[in-house]
Amino acid sequence: MQGETGDFARSQVLDPALADILPNLNGKTVLDVGCGEGRLCRQLSEQGAITTGIDPTPEFIAHAKQMHPDGTYLEAIAESLPFPDNSFDLVISYLTLIDIPDDRAAANEMVRVLKPGGQIFIVTISNMGSCTPGWVKDENGKHLYRTVDRYMEHFSMELAWGGLEIINYHRPLSHTLNLFLFQGMVLTHFLEPLPPESSEHFQQEFRCPTFQIFAFK
Ligand SMILES: C[S@@+](CC[C@H](N)C(=O)[O-])C[C@H]1O[C@@H](n2cnc3c(N)ncnc32)[C@H](O)[C@@H]1O
Repeated sequence: MQGETGDFARSQVLDPALADILPNLNGKTVLDVGCGEGRLCRQLSEQGAITTGIDPTPEFIAHAKQMHPDGTYLEAIAESLPFPDNSFDLVISYLTLIDIPDDRAAANEMVRVLKPGGQIFIVTISNMGSCTPGWVKDENGKHLYRTVDRYMEHFSMELAWGGLEIINYHRPLSHTLNLFLFQGMVLTHFLEPLPPESSEHFQQEFRCPTFQIFAFK
């Protein structure tokens, strides 16, 4: 479970970078696809957004509802969103795209429920990073290098996340971008966010970043 501020990556790397490119949220309808326990929805609600979170994991949705009784949280999958066309000003997917088995169906659904002129924000793991389990380290834990292999393939990998067994799906960057570009969306932002330079943690990010943020309009 993520606390209100989130872990280091969320609080120090991803949230500040996303905040830099989000529009004024006051009165905007925002869908969080794969909301987990609803941390982002609560954060955006505080900025005046009218948020809806969906996630297929019942425990996360129950927790989100408990923490934020005024918010709207539904058990659902990204591939079949339970909303009419043109429902939301913004659609956000935060560290969830690589958890979704059918990302094409999910991207089609995100565009379908977006109002004309709306924006989609995808916060995700770098496609370079999702094809291997992580850094190769020496016996002292020093980061030596990252491997990149099978980059152009589509495949799944079993991982442990927050005590849960999960499956992540690797796809190349061209595939991810084209999910939205082929639907007529325009890429407005592409970030490879980094931690603060002074940070003691995550210095390896300056060599090879783990995350990407895309925005489409
Ligand atoms: C790494 S967690 C991120 C959750 C949350 N956005 C956060 O930042 O804490 C990935 C989430 O994707 C959800 N998920 C898995 N398959 C999904 C699907 N088909 N559609 C939508 N969400 C899915 C999981 O239940 C989990 O909550």
